[in-house]
Amino acid sequence: MASWQRTHTCGELRAEHAGQAVVLNGWVNTYRNQGGLVFIDLRDRYGVTQVVFESERVELLKAAQELRSEFVVSIRGQVSRRLEGKENKDLATGAVEVKAHELTILNRCPTPPFEVTEFAAQELANEDLRLQYRYLDLRRPSLQRTLMMRHRLCKVIRDHLDQQGFLEVETPLLGRSTPEGARDYLVPSRVFPKSWFALPQSPQLYKQLLMVAGYDKYFQIARCLRDEDLRADRQPEFTQLDMEMSFVEMDDVFAVIEGLTSAVFQQCLGVSIPLPLPRLRYADAMLRYGNDKPDLRYGLEIAELSDLAAQTEFQVFRGTLESGGKVRGLNVVAAADKFSRKGLDELGEVVKRYNAKGLAWIKVEADKFTSPIEKFLPAPVQQALRERLSAKAGDLLLIVADKEDTVCQALGNLRAHLANVLKLIDPEKLDYKVAWVIDFPSFIRDEEENRWAANHHPFTAPMDEDLAKLESDPGSVRAKAYDLVINGYECGGGSIRIHNPDVQQRLFSVLGMSREQAQERFGFLLDALKFGAPPHGGIALGIDRWAMMLARTGNIRDVIAFPKNQKARDLMTGAPGAVDAKQLKELGL
Ligand code: AMO
Ligand code: AMP
Repeated sequence: MASWQRTHTCGELRAEHAGQAVVLNGWVNTYRNQGGLVFIDLRDRYGVTQVVFESERVELLKAAQELRSEFVVSIRGQVSRRLEGKENKDLATGAVEVKAHELTILNRCPTPPFEVTEFAAQELANEDLRLQYRYLDLRRPSLQRTLMMRHRLCKVIRDHLDQQGFLEVETPLLGRSTPEGARDYLVPSRVFPKSWFALPQSPQLYKQLLMVAGYDKYFQIARCLRDEDLRADRQPEFTQLDMEMSFVEMDDVFAVIEGLTSAVFQQCLGVSIPLPLPRLRYADAMLRYGNDKPDLRYGLEIAELSDLAAQTEFQVFRGTLESGGKVRGLNVVAAADKFSRKGLDELGEVVKRYNAKGLAWIKVEADKFTSPIEKFLPAPVQQALRERLSAKAGDLLLIVADKEDTVCQALGNLRAHLANVLKLIDPEKLDYKVAWVIDFPSFIRDEEENRWAANHHPFTAPMDEDLAKLESDPGSVRAKAYDLVINGYECGGGSIRIHNPDVQQRLFSVLGMSREQAQERFGFLLDALKFGAPPHGGIALGIDRWAMMLARTGNIRDVIAFPKNQKARDLMTGAPGAVDAKQLKELGL
């Protein structure tokens, strides 16, 4: 053991160590020179320990005065109890300090581009700068805690699924395109010029082939790559807990995932999630929350008001209904006096951002409405509105009339905005609302291309009772598909698959793929389905999003060690970057 090597970590020393000779290694977190004394907080990933250099050791004190933030040092010294009243209750090691006898500077550090010490989120240095020097940013205890939480999450998952008899199997990165709806990242083949591999958007097809091969219960913590527009909860490269099971129906998949959900929240946070998880139909989620991944931590439910709107004299409402649109609204309980005219105009701006043309508001009083549209609302409609929205004096009613999609978008986002400004979510509370969303439509209409597209992916089985309508009325076919939603985030999605090659072929046809095209792209799957494919189904959970939930951050980059920035660049290594002409030539490019 080299003389500078540590005997303890920086998070380890307690009162009972007083008197012991120790060696600590770590980074200078903070440095304070108080005349005859130098104090440093020494940091490693286990914690922080205060070290003091005293005036009696003149040479040592002089050496210590050279220390600066982020120097890496070794300190030999003696643990000593802090003076009565000088303990630091916020620090696990706060009862003691180490009196330094020897200092070895293992490495120096220039003034860092930003301070590594912890700050409140809004005071942190610019994110792109932090991503450029990610190894410095990763020294922050909050990021370290988050990555430790992510480790715990994967550990709980592996242990739990192992106990349930699942096998972890790896699948290729270099393969053929899997249609999850995003653009592929492509890799040119050197050996076969003008031929390309696609990086997997998910292991979807491989896991289905594992079921055909009889593996029965599969999982993998798998990297997925999708070239799509990034958002706060999306990365081009992300991780799924990918799972597949044979001889199952939806309820079996739900039972496995509910057990896993409960284990994760219990073991990572000590939080119990009541089971079984609630199930919400897609159509109800869209109506009541304007969204297929509703945040169920607060109310503000949306109600259908079209039938009442039809009985008013308000031209905007009637015109909307005549052109096939909807009128819906919500009750912001006891909020009538929380929004001035200006505040109400701002709410109007929120819905306009989502393409709504306007927002009608009503302040409810005991015996009347105050509202720009009050004069258009006959007394019986006013009474019916009170009942429909359970409105009482002091409540604020907000209404949007538009195309159904726009109403959902506008009111769904208004709901989230209101929860935010009215502080309906307590950031200190470990509050998790987990639910299934079910009964999705199988297809969505791609208006631009004038064709049907798969709502999930094209291997998702339609509901048995809707199979007959596959060709005649694709829009009404519902899928055996499900999403897992936590606090307003889609944290998982899956389905029961098609295991019959004829049904799979029919589905490809609805999507406008000819027999030849289907054979060319997915022939291997269609073949495999003929070779004794068992009924099967599964799901993929977004590990990054689960880590976001557990770490309570809204930024996916906070839970990934080396993420891409919002423009899908790696600012630290500079990828993507240029390559040699020679490499291109070898690839025939
Ligand atoms: P899906 O495309 O719904 O399903 O993905 C499953 C889950 O992965 C997460 N996710 C993402 N997380 C971060 N960044 C992204 N760009 C991103 N895209 C998706 C979400 C999502 O719910 N093969 C199917 C699963 C199946 O049918 O079994 C699939 O990939 O949390
Ligand atoms: P106006 O008669 O145009 O002044 O509109 C009266 C109220 O109706 C205003 O508060 C508008 O914001 C609101 N409004 C306008 N268009 C819509 C709409 N599409 N949905 C709901 N309210 C609307």
